[in-house]
Amino acid sequence: MNHMCSQRSVMFLALLAVFLTLSVARGGAPSVPPHEEVARMARFVVHKCDWASMATISTHDPVKGQPFSNTFSISDGLAGNGTGTPYMYLTHMEISVQDLQVNPQASLSVSLAQTHYCKNHGFDPQSPLCAHIILSGSVLQVNDSEASVAKAALFGRHPEMIDWPTDHNWFFAKFNITQVWVLDYFGGVKTVTPEEYYSAAPLRTHAGSDTR
Ligand SMILES: *[C@@H]1O[C@H](CO)[C@@H](O)[C@H](O)[C@H]1NC(C)=O
Ligand SMILES: *[C@@H]1O[C@H](CO)[C@@H](O)[C@H](O)[C@H]1NC(C)=O
Ligand SMILES: *[C@@H]1O[C@H](CO)[C@@H](O)[C@H](O)[C@H]1NC(C)=O
Repeated sequence: MNHMCSQRSVMFLALLAVFLTLSVARGGAPSVPPHEEVARMARFVVHKCDWASMATISTHDPVKGQPFSNTFSISDGLAGNGTGTPYMYLTHMEISVQDLQVNPQASLSVSLAQTHYCKNHGFDPQSPLCAHIILSGSVLQVNDSEASVAKAALFGRHPEMIDWPTDHNWFFAKFNITQVWVLDYFGGVKTVTPEEYYSAAPLRTHAGSDTR
């Protein structure tokens, strides 16, 4: 009996060691920043998310002039190397992009509900504890030098983009941020300027909880 128990303990410890080794080898999952560090939180959530909901002002009947929310693949850089700027791969054939040609102003939202974090912690997507970020600004086509940054960021995280049909005339764009809105705790929305957002260090290590 005792022998069985100690065998099991040894097995358990061995498995634990393997698990810890694997976690360390993966560099560990970067932690969610403390909620009071709102600029870091915004950078963190934008970097974690591979897609966003983007609202434009519709140019299409029967909702002309009304908000129109649609899903887009985004990337602000390869994992662990986010620039803060959400890049997108767009075509003028796309319904929301047609809106942007008339009015480039848009709103982009991303949420930790898109990771395992909120479910694992029992946070409803609408709870402020399930951090979500809204960006205001406009969508701008990028120039050739920035397009190479956008391409590396997008194709690295969305490899099937490489095979999207060339006759759609895809181009690289960025979300040019004018205001950041952060819902990451009770007490209402907090705002972050683009300057604060871009000077924050999203992935600094600390004793927070990870996104798994
Ligand atoms: C991070 O991005 C910078 C600039 O885009 C690049 O020079 C650097 O090699 C990248 N680092 C990693 C680890 O990908
Ligand atoms: C391209 O755009 C970036 C970012 O807006 C800017 O810093 C850079 O000077 C531009 N390059 C050229 C050649 O216009
Ligand atoms: C881009 O965003 C900056 C603020 O970060 C703003 O000053 C600028 O006017 C915006 N550019 C366009 C073309 O909307």
